[in-house]
Amino acid sequence: VAPLRVGIAGLGTVGAEVVRLIEQQGRTLSARSGRGVRVVAVTARSKVKKRGLDLRGIDWAKNPLALANDPGIDCFVELMGGSGEPALSAIEAALKSGKSVVTANKALIAKHGLRLAKAAEKHGGALNFEAAVGAAIPVVKTLREGLTGTDVNRVYGILNGTCNYILTRMEQEGLSFAECLKDAQRLGYAEANPSFDVDGHDTAQKLAILASLAFGTKVAQSAVYVEGISSITPEDLRAAEQLGYRVKLLGVAVRTVKGIEQRVHPTMVPKSSSIAQVMGVTNAVTIDGAGIPPITLVGPGAGGAATASAVVADIADVARGIRAKPFGRPVERLRATKKAPMERH
Ligand code: NDP
Ligand code: HSE
Repeated sequence: VAPLRVGIAGLGTVGAEVVRLIEQQGRTLSARSGRGVRVVAVTARSKVKKRGLDLRGIDWAKNPLALANDPGIDCFVELMGGSGEPALSAIEAALKSGKSVVTANKALIAKHGLRLAKAAEKHGGALNFEAAVGAAIPVVKTLREGLTGTDVNRVYGILNGTCNYILTRMEQEGLSFAECLKDAQRLGYAEANPSFDVDGHDTAQKLAILASLAFGTKVAQSAVYVEGISSITPEDLRAAEQLGYRVKLLGVAVRTVKGIEQRVHPTMVPKSSSIAQVMGVTNAVTIDGAGIPPITLVGPGAGGAATASAVVADIADVARGIRAKPFGRPVERLRATKKAPMERH
């Protein structure tokens, strides 16, 4: 079988790591997917930036759209970020030409996921976005495929590595919010615009995606109540600790009789609870399904290597010929999101 020809747009924290991982894991990948996987073309804003990558023998595309339209690739991997252009047009072009697409872009999927899923279903390509939620944690696959036979009542957890890293270091080391954020940026955890992290929008985008997968509703970031962590101080965390609590930024989506309640806000959790033990860049997602005990997935929630692991798994699925419905069911079967009034639980 001819190898899967991959084109990658974006060679930053995640993209560079994906190129490295495919290079390192070439044999394992082809043994596991039954087909070779080869990066044949890439693009980024700057052609001269030092990236520590050996790109000899790999084409440099003029721009993301040209890469998406390149007949010499089978799978377009979008790792640029941003909820609009050039990611949107490039992904749409790739899907319309029958290619499969892999992306880690939660901002884009939360905003245009349905439109893109329709294009994928119509033209026969896959649209995979495992890395968009919880980085290395296979939570999209768990909801999309693993829990097909289970009615989910609630999905919640710590979905932003940057915020959990900041809260952990503020609590443990008494550092200021600004110092911790700077370190999260240096380590490649934060978004290009870190207000997406600290103001809760990144968590809201991820929650909207999880809610759609869990409840079969249309992705609707606008249905999420959002509060971030930027006004929290080390003193607040100390006060919580004295009362026996830790502060975590949680995303919660729950089925109620009035609809699907979706909310993101800092939450005091008892120090003895399992969610309070989730520290640093780690994420945790708990899924409450009808008739089964809760399932909790815990793992690295941000960073180049963790995210590349999920991106490469998505690429391997394309190589295997797996074409799951992006949101676990045909787009026309997704119900409108009935937003429930918020109640504190
Ligand atoms: P970076 O900012 O590190 O990298 C972005 C890359 O995209 C850079 O190589 C940049 O080029 C390129 N790029 C940006 N705009 C354009 C454009 N207009 N045309 C061509 N190339 C462009 O981001 P990350 O790698 O951190 O994130 C990438 C995606 O992965 C985002 O959607 C993010 O939300 C998601 N993600 C990130 C995680 C993380 O931990 N970092 C975790 C999970 C998801 P150049 O290098 O030349 O500037
Ligand atoms: N900025 C995001 C975070 C990256 O910190 O969780 C992973 O999605």
